[in-house]
Amino acid sequence: MIRNCNILLRRAVNRSTLISRRYLSSEAILDRIKQDGLLCESSIIDGEEVYGSNTFAVQDPATGGVIGTSPDLSVDSLDQAIGSSLAAFKTFKRVPGSERSDMLTRWRNLILEYADDLAGLITFENGKPFNEAKGEVMYAASFLSWFAGEATRIYGDMIQPMSNSTVRTITMLQPIGVVGVITPWNFPAAMITRKVAAAIAAGCTAVVKPDSETPFTALALGQLALRAGIPPGVLNIVTTKSSLAEMGKMLCEDPRVRKISFTGSTAVGGLLMKQSSSGLKKLSLELGGNAPFIVFEDADIDQAVSAAIACKFRGSGQTCVCANRIYVAAQVYDEFVDKLTQAVRTFVVGNGFADGVTHGPLIHERAIAKVERHVQDAVALGGRVLVGGSRATGHASELFFQPTVIRDATNKMLITHEETFGPVAGIFKFSSEQDAIDAANDSTVGLASYVMTKDLSRAFRVAEQLDFGMVGLNTGLISDAAVPFGGVKQSGFGREGSKYGIHEYLTVKAVSVGGVVY
Ligand code: SIN
Repeated sequence: MIRNCNILLRRAVNRSTLISRRYLSSEAILDRIKQDGLLCESSIIDGEEVYGSNTFAVQDPATGGVIGTSPDLSVDSLDQAIGSSLAAFKTFKRVPGSERSDMLTRWRNLILEYADDLAGLITFENGKPFNEAKGEVMYAASFLSWFAGEATRIYGDMIQPMSNSTVRTITMLQPIGVVGVITPWNFPAAMITRKVAAAIAAGCTAVVKPDSETPFTALALGQLALRAGIPPGVLNIVTTKSSLAEMGKMLCEDPRVRKISFTGSTAVGGLLMKQSSSGLKKLSLELGGNAPFIVFEDADIDQAVSAAIACKFRGSGQTCVCANRIYVAAQVYDEFVDKLTQAVRTFVVGNGFADGVTHGPLIHERAIAKVERHVQDAVALGGRVLVGGSRATGHASELFFQPTVIRDATNKMLITHEETFGPVAGIFKFSSEQDAIDAANDSTVGLASYVMTKDLSRAFRVAEQLDFGMVGLNTGLISDAAVPFGGVKQSGFGREGSKYGIHEYLTVKAVSVGGVVY
């Protein structure tokens, strides 16, 4: 077993020069990751490597091969991690914002320095193509830059016009405390930094439980955080496979943890909310989406096709903001469908390290079985497959699905009501603006939505009527550190990134001062 995650030796290392290395092959990348001490097979608790007596294997979805093992820790280790984060919080909350900002900047610089290592880990354990993984690393780093800025700009208010003229009130924004962070496999780096950078900027400490499909990216980030001088206990990372449910419950119920931030399914989000209710814990929940993508007859169709590709097929369709229902005006339906189909035919499915590959495998068998079920259901109900439609064969694993376009989709189909989370574009026809809005809003969830139109008045009219937390107008890419990311309805609540993100980790204290007399 490789034990090259030498946290103690490397803790003090701070190389701020941004050297992004270029590697030629997956073997070379893996060698470099090991040499750099970033294939970490231990959890991180209180700045120490914690191995535990049981482990679980982490597999490459593209090959089925084992990348390495992670500790299968129990709630006893989580208990230690929470204790460590609470102890660290007692001093970390007093660290000046400018120092927390510097820590985040140093962490960001190391992430950029080791961008290829991190992208390699993402490709190994998530399967997304290396270039896309590199894009995720940049996205992850952007949250550190963003929140490094926010750490120095946490402003309270002074309230003068009180009902009692001898009293003034000052508001203090204070860190909420220890935060439990539960992250998914689809963005193994960015979902951690989006939450943890905001928490650290606010002065909180965090216990992260990464998904068991993708622990290595999380642990490499944790290792770089230590090298950046983020104090032990401020960021604990606890891995498990067999105690997932117990750990989630403990994070929600333990009174030492003051807030939970979770990205994942609506079902799990609901369970965490129930479990958090006994302690009335503050929550940020970024849950499932079922994004509508509306193309009006006045849209620039080429732009709409590019936007649809960007948001439907990113991560092989495995993002919460992927278009799931593509509604196209009857007048431009055939043109849009033809152009999208042609574009999808150019995709190259394969191992994310191979040259020219645009789309990697799905994460596991459950994911691909769901995609298959959605396609079969759509076909049985009259949908016509124009490209793709089945598993992609001839690869080293069974987890590849052909990027698929289905025309003549209807609201009877599963693809209308369930998030497919895979590379399937079902295309619906609509005949009026109101029909498109009603169809888009006919969903229990409301995370992202997209509108393609050149009519400015329509753009605002429709955006204002969509029951979603986010609207992309003439763009398929809404993900950015500057954007308040989050949903409404059963897509959860709370906002990540943007000027609002830090407030999820702060409490407002009102200090009223009496005795002001003239
Ligand atoms: C998600 O899929 O949960 C996040 C997507 C993003 O940040 O773009």
